[in-house]
Amino acid sequence: MKSRYSYKETFESGQKVAWQVEDIIGGEKRLDFKRPFLPESLARVDSMDFLSAEEKLLLNQIRGYGYLYTFGLVEEFILPFVVDHARPHLSGDDYRTRALLRFAGEEAKHIQLFKQFAAEFQGGFGSACNTIGPPEEIARAVLSHHPLGVALVILHIEWMTQRHYLDSVHDDGALDPQFKSLLRHHWMEEAQHAKMDTLMVEALVESCSPAEIETGITEYAALGGLLDGGLQQQVEFDMQSLQLAAGRTLNRAEQDRFRSIQTQALRWTYLGSGMTHLKFLETVGDLNPGARRRIEEMAPAFC
Ligand SMILES: [Fe+2]
Ligand SMILES: [Fe+2]
Repeated sequence: MKSRYSYKETFESGQKVAWQVEDIIGGEKRLDFKRPFLPESLARVDSMDFLSAEEKLLLNQIRGYGYLYTFGLVEEFILPFVVDHARPHLSGDDYRTRALLRFAGEEAKHIQLFKQFAAEFQGGFGSACNTIGPPEEIARAVLSHHPLGVALVILHIEWMTQRHYLDSVHDDGALDPQFKSLLRHHWMEEAQHAKMDTLMVEALVESCSPAEIETGITEYAALGGLLDGGLQQQVEFDMQSLQLAAGRTLNRAEQDRFRSIQTQALRWTYLGSGMTHLKFLETVGDLNPGARRRIEEMAPAFC
């Protein structure tokens, strides 16, 4: 398979980006809890007319907290996966080694950044927010799948991050500037990760039989199902967090509407926006055009 990307080009574009955790969080750089954190296309709180304006803002921020928590969580399995992928061939191509180790190093940095964000959020939000996990357990479950399935999930996540920032965050002037800055810095490094993961998928495919490629694609779908189960649990947690923060209990009809709107919001955020990304579909289509069609057919349920 001829690659669209190269380790050298990806490594060199990454050189221009590098930032330090302490440069973008802490000190004077504080979250502003008077402003929304997530763009409406991901948060989908506007149509929830049974919530007051204050409650919509609280839910937006709960979703923002969950968003960066979820990135930290997936990075817990991306980090060991990339290190394992780099390890067997450290001496062949110096650009490959440096680019993969930087990919891993950046994910370790993002994990640390998002932990610091979580501590600051918890200090300023005023009430507790529950999240799915623990990350180590989810990482173990994910990494027990076929490496090609895991690499496809990571590819989906990396392109999805690009799309969220470019389509929804970049031009949104209402968002809290500090939260937006975290998203922007994350996006800048993830741009290289999406290319690196394409190279990882291509390398894995070279050593796979057609049957193994089929297994990898099936496992990608299975991992999507695993994530979808987690998202449904997260919707319940978000509803509890909102009720705690707002100091009131939603009635049965409001709870049902909350579940239906937010399930679809989380599905779009973490599943639909990745499954329908053209770059992701391009790579899957190269492996197996039938698999691309199957993903495209499944996608509307997650959009
Ligand atoms: Fe990341
Ligand atoms: Fe990444």
